Amino acid sequence: MQNFSFYNPTNIVFGEGQLRELDNLVPKNAKVLVTYGGGSAKSTGLLDKVKSELVKSNREVLEFAGIPANPKLEVLIKAIELVREEKIDFLLAVGGGSVIDGTKFICVAACADEFVGRERELMNFGFNPVPVDRAIPFGTILTLPATGSEMNNGAVITDGKDKLPVFSTQAFPKFSILDPTITYTLPAKQVANGIVDSFIHTVEQYITFPAEGRFQDRTAEGILQTLIEIGKKTYENPEDYDSRANLVWCSTMALNGLIGAGVPQDWATHMLGHEITALTGIDHARTLAVVQPANWRIRKEQKKEKLLQYAERVWGITEGSEDARIEKAILKTEEFFHSLDIPTKLSDYNLGEELIEKVLVSLGNHGMTALSEHGDVTLDVSREILEAAI
Ligand code: NZQ
Ligand code: ZN
Repeated sequence: MQNFSFYNPTNIVFGEGQLRELDNLVPKNAKVLVTYGGGSAKSTGLLDKVKSELVKSNREVLEFAGIPANPKLEVLIKAIELVREEKIDFLLAVGGGSVIDGTKFICVAACADEFVGRERELMNFGFNPVPVDRAIPFGTILTLPATGSEMNNGAVITDGKDKLPVFSTQAFPKFSILDPTITYTLPAKQVANGIVDSFIHTVEQYITFPAEGRFQDRTAEGILQTLIEIGKKTYENPEDYDSRANLVWCSTMALNGLIGAGVPQDWATHMLGHEITALTGIDHARTLAVVQPANWRIRKEQKKEKLLQYAERVWGITEGSEDARIEKAILKTEEFFHSLDIPTKLSDYNLGEELIEKVLVSLGNHGMTALSEHGDVTLDVSREILEAAI
């Protein structure tokens, strides 16, 4: 097992009705800015419930609406200005990954005095934490299980052209309320996206090369098996509480640092996927479903042992040659995504060579030229993966 440091300070408050804990979780004297997205928080009635909890302790509460899916820098800058003007001292994100990521960026950027007017530069640090030692504290009320953003310190921000990950040691939520019933209002498409995103987060940290991370492997396998067990059920029966609760907890655990501690991690699928979203607007999870099977097919030699382990332990595939077992596991994975009405080919979106050229240019511009657990996904390998995804 590799050396690691595992730090995760987020307080998870899980289960039906836990919104009533909000008044205890937010500091009593805080001036609070509630952030949300394009309107679902309002139309579902959740926002009113949140506000009535917050005012129980006579807090001053302001709102910032309109953080879009794939949070846009120009919108976030307006919120950063508001936070400074109003001297906000606590933010509460009510939404999915986009609202939570956007809120993280607001909290960090509002304290990054040397970046005032140059907030775009905070997107240039890649996988290194941005150099801030303070952020405005924030909590989240999760409405979409997918990204794990509710219990990690990453955010993915776009300026309309580039879509890039941003990290800060200060960007962990103080708390996250995970009430599975809050997610019942999700359109089925977003539930499917959440299942697939959680699945891919898990395999990005699991299907690499063996590192004697036995706990991490078995926990990853547990998440994958659970998602396979409950995925279609919760997609088709949104109000089946137990299935939905398992999805919510799996998606949080898939990307809170636990299964990735002490083991190699890939993330090439995500980096290619982010470029596709930036260029086409296709939902994050849907880009991953296209790239991941192709990534495995092209890099099956480098990932052989873990792909065989995945085939056996997750799908029960023990018969046939090594190549046949690997291909069967990839086909099973694709079938699982198809069962959620998620396509697995670029051509399903009428995309092909033209997009690939653009993705390669963007990857080059962003320095994404040595991706994966081995750093061996050069632009040439990315091209092969994308071509296999057509
Ligand atoms: O904007 P509103 O009106 O709220 O509608 C949203 C949005 O249109 C809707 N929605 C959310 N909760 C709902 C709901 N509709 C009805 N009922 C509810 N309860 O769903 C739509 C999608 O929301 P979004 O937040 O964009 O989805 P998701 O949670 O999948 O987040 C995707 C973003 O997270 C980033 C992605 O790149 C993308 O920008 N990621 C963040 C990560 C992280 N911070 O660790 C890791 C991920 O790999 C990912 O890259
Ligand atoms: Zn993801």
